[in-house]
Amino acid sequence: MSKKSEITNVYKKKISKLKKHNKLYFDNDNPEISDAEFDHLKKEILDLEKKNIFLRKLNLNNNLVGAAPSNKFKKIKHIKPMLSLSNAFSSNDIKDFMSKINNFLNIKDKNIELSSEPKIDGISASLIYENGILVKGLSRGDGVTGEDILNNLKTIKGIPNKIIDDDMPPLLEIRGEIFIGKKDFNSIKGNFANPRNAAGGSLRQKNSEETAKIPLQYFAYGLGAIEPMVFKTQSEFLDQIKKWGFKINPLVKIVKDLNEIQDQYSYIDSIRSSLDYDIDGLVFKVNDLKLQSRLGNTSNSPRWAIAYKFSAEKAFSKINDIIIQVGRTGAITPVAKVEPVTVGGVVVSNATLHNEDEIKRKDIRINDIIQIQRAGDVIPQVVSVDFSKRKKDSKKFIFPEKCLCGAITEKEINKSTKKEDSVRRCLRGYECDFIAKEKLKHIVSKDAFNIDGLGKKVIDQFWSLNLIKRPSDIFNIDYKKINNLEGWGKLSINNLRKAVEKSKNIELDRFIYSIGIRHIGQENGKILASFFKTINKFSDLFNKKKRKKILENLVNLDGIGEIQIYSIDNFFNNENNISILEKLIEKLNIKKFKAQNKKGKFSNKTIMFTGGFEKMSRSEAKSLVESNGGKVLGTVTKKLNYFVIGNSKPTKKKIEKAKELNIKILKENDWYKILDL
Ligand code: IVH
Repeated sequence: MSKKSEITNVYKKKISKLKKHNKLYFDNDNPEISDAEFDHLKKEILDLEKKNIFLRKLNLNNNLVGAAPSNKFKKIKHIKPMLSLSNAFSSNDIKDFMSKINNFLNIKDKNIELSSEPKIDGISASLIYENGILVKGLSRGDGVTGEDILNNLKTIKGIPNKIIDDDMPPLLEIRGEIFIGKKDFNSIKGNFANPRNAAGGSLRQKNSEETAKIPLQYFAYGLGAIEPMVFKTQSEFLDQIKKWGFKINPLVKIVKDLNEIQDQYSYIDSIRSSLDYDIDGLVFKVNDLKLQSRLGNTSNSPRWAIAYKFSAEKAFSKINDIIIQVGRTGAITPVAKVEPVTVGGVVVSNATLHNEDEIKRKDIRINDIIQIQRAGDVIPQVVSVDFSKRKKDSKKFIFPEKCLCGAITEKEINKSTKKEDSVRRCLRGYECDFIAKEKLKHIVSKDAFNIDGLGKKVIDQFWSLNLIKRPSDIFNIDYKKINNLEGWGKLSINNLRKAVEKSKNIELDRFIYSIGIRHIGQENGKILASFFKTINKFSDLFNKKKRKKILENLVNLDGIGEIQIYSIDNFFNNENNISILEKLIEKLNIKKFKAQNKKGKFSNKTIMFTGGFEKMSRSEAKSLVESNGGKVLGTVTKKLNYFVIGNSKPTKKKIEKAKELNIKILKENDWYKILDL
């Protein structure tokens, strides 16, 4: 082993030890080592970093040392969730964004004004003013619930404590990005890998006097809650809050079409390095707030905004090997093992090659010199091969036809396009150990059973010790066997036991998502749960005859199509899957699905559309129904409450069927009346 890798190993061990004790101390309030030992460990890490600068680039010490993250802050629910932004990486992506907006709003041949703003690479925060007085200050947290960091935010220069203006709305929530200037960062750098980590660390100090020592700055960029609404546009909002004393980014600009967007993007990219703060792209937001509200949100991000990211960081390296990985759906993904190289401050040694076709298309081979790119949190990718550096004796890469388990893999024929899939799959499900392990990792993950302390590494460890092989084993862990394992103390075992117990109470939609039927993600999990309501009804799928009937009915659900139905059938046609599920269900208390009874005009009502409307797109109509508590159906059934006929090209057959079944019919104008349009 080289000296460098020895040092790295020692360093990594110390970091994971520190992580463990950090958690014990700050989160569990139950330290296992003395403060002096803790400090000593920290010092050892810092000393190692000082002597070996390359360690910092590993980016492992993300504000672990110096600014220990704490969950001692009071948790407060955001008035409105703090969402994230969807990303664009090319002008084509922006074009798509613009046409989606136009389609959704059913606006043709008109340019929609956008507010262009630098995307500051910092930490977001929310400031709540009641009658002009700053009363709450929250971190983003998980987007739904934030932490009360008011005292820390108050230490930041330029955040007004009090606004005096007769026109001040009684409730105003300002959202903004907190950051450290590049120059300031260089003078305090010490223990942080980059300015963003430094800002995050200082903002979450328990003692606000510590925060005050760090030169934090901020830019306000958005409106959270407001009562009453007094603004018409984003630009009017920004101008007004600037007058109230908030800091606004000076590079904000209104743009009107693709050319202006591209010009502004190129311009800001060109001056980016001269700015004193890090930006990682531009945010484009629909300027008109009424249009913003019509566009609304998807589950994670607003439809009215997009982050146009600056191009990804690239680097050259050499492919040492190409291996395959097996995913939970059996998909075989080739991965390039590359000579470790730093891309955008992070050391990369693996890069995805996507699939067999991609390797063929780019003619990627072992020993090639390749260019790698890493954009944000995306897995690094191989962009291209430098053919001039290829040796004469290099051989084409032959893609393995077998899974790691030894079984022959297959390319399926896509149900709708009838074309061969580009992904090879192992079709053995739980019979393949590699798939089974990945399925377990999915089951314990955050959006599924969410079992704290049972991460991917622990699943690997428990698997090799024969402690967990099938989902039901999670609820039968022999804790005595863990007792002697490295890294497991009394406290962590106890915590795991508690987390496992807690996860037994699970909602039906989460359960359906957890079991990992292909093409059934979180959204579909919800749709199916609202259809089945109870685990008993869901279990009818285990029975072949009943399944056939159920699947016929599922066609009526908006969002469930042929692909999903085929996939569900396929999953339950496998006896092994059924017996695994039966054993799992026995251990659980699966809660009945409770519809989020959104109150509104369409509470508990089902609606179906045919034909197009003049004033809105089908998507907007659907989103209006859903935000008012109703459900949109895809076929005419007896259960349907309203059948709405748009003037543009309605389907005659459907109208006849609706009439036959005596369903209440609304014409385009009746529809607008219901909506008060
Ligand atoms: S608007 C619904 N504007 O980027 C989210 N965000 O990925 C609306 N950010 O969490 C966000 N500068 O922390 C917006 N000018 C800007 C921004 C900005 C930085 C951050 C913000 C947000 C993240 C979204």
